[in-house]
Amino acid sequence: MRLIPAGVVPFVALLLLQRRPVSGRALLGTSSACPTNGLCRANVLEQTRRQVALLNATAQDLFSLYLKCQGEPFSSESDRLCSPSGIFFPPFHVNRTTERKEVMVAMYKLFAFLNASLGNITRDQEELNPMAKELLNRLHNTTKTTRGLISNLTCLLCKHYNIFQVDVSYGESSKDKSAFKKKQQGCQVLRKYVQVIAQAARVLLPHLSPA
Ligand SMILES: *[C@@H]1O[C@H](CO)[C@@H](O)[C@H](O)[C@H]1NC(C)=O
Ligand SMILES: *[C@@H]1O[C@H](CO)[C@@H](O)[C@H](O)[C@H]1NC(C)=O
Ligand SMILES: *[C@@H]1O[C@H](CO)[C@@H](O)[C@H](O)[C@H]1NC(C)=O
Ligand SMILES: *[C@@H]1O[C@H](CO)[C@@H](O)[C@H](O)[C@H]1NC(C)=O
Ligand SMILES: *[C@@H]1O[C@H](CO)[C@@H](O)[C@H](O)[C@H]1NC(C)=O
Ligand SMILES: *[C@@H]1O[C@H](CO)[C@@H](O)[C@H](O)[C@H]1NC(C)=O
Repeated sequence: MRLIPAGVVPFVALLLLQRRPVSGRALLGTSSACPTNGLCRANVLEQTRRQVALLNATAQDLFSLYLKCQGEPFSSESDRLCSPSGIFFPPFHVNRTTERKEVMVAMYKLFAFLNASLGNITRDQEELNPMAKELLNRLHNTTKTTRGLISNLTCLLCKHYNIFQVDVSYGESSKDKSAFKKKQQGCQVLRKYVQVIAQAARVLLPHLSPA
């Protein structure tokens, strides 16, 4: 069956808005407009690195458990049913030579999308598979890590790179879809997530290591 490409919903219809450099005045601290002002920890890079590594380490198990809990035909036909080619997923074109700032922005887009998608998936699974406690736990755990990561990224973007707004694209909401479509959308997103988080970890872990 053919899938309609997901709509792209612009969240903040602004391109990266960069503050003009303020000529060395400590008084005009660039943090004044940061939402996480005061929350930026000294080890924020290290925490970001750990969170990406943790998400990468748990992604495959989350996907496998998700598949198992959807029953047939998902468990036996995942290659066909979960092919992510028809869905929207944020492009993640970074490599070892990409500027750190660009890497941070790409990560932000990726994890903001993931957070919203996990929200839909969790809501759908609570409705469709309320007894799948282990799966629901893992979904909650992954969401929690993702939100911690987003807050650390927000802090990095804001304080270290003076970026206050990032364009984020989300996929389609699964709200009014059939049970089958909800399950399918979840498995497409999670399968793509397994691939992209591994790629992100490969590129980012060296990027974020202390020099
Ligand atoms: C790495 O990414 C940058 C964009 O961030 C791109 O311009 C460059 O061509 C890429 N290099 C390779 C080897 O893919
Ligand atoms: C994460 O997604 C939820 C919806 O599930 C939303 O309310 C929340 O604002 C999002 N958090 C971040 C940090 O984007
Ligand atoms: C569901 O997904 C849509 C589109 O990606 C997003 O706008 C919305 O915040 C998500 N809903 C929840 C409850 O996470
Ligand atoms: C749940 O999250 C914690 C960190 O918050 C992590 O140590 C643990 O491995 C995670 N468990 C699973 C099953 O993902
Ligand atoms: C960064 O991640 C850590 C560890 O998960 C979390 O405790 C903290 O609240 C996050 N946010 C900031 C801004 O440090
Ligand atoms: C990401 O996770 C995969 C699967 O667990 C693992 O093989 C790979 O080494 C991890 N990548 C990094 C950079 O840690």
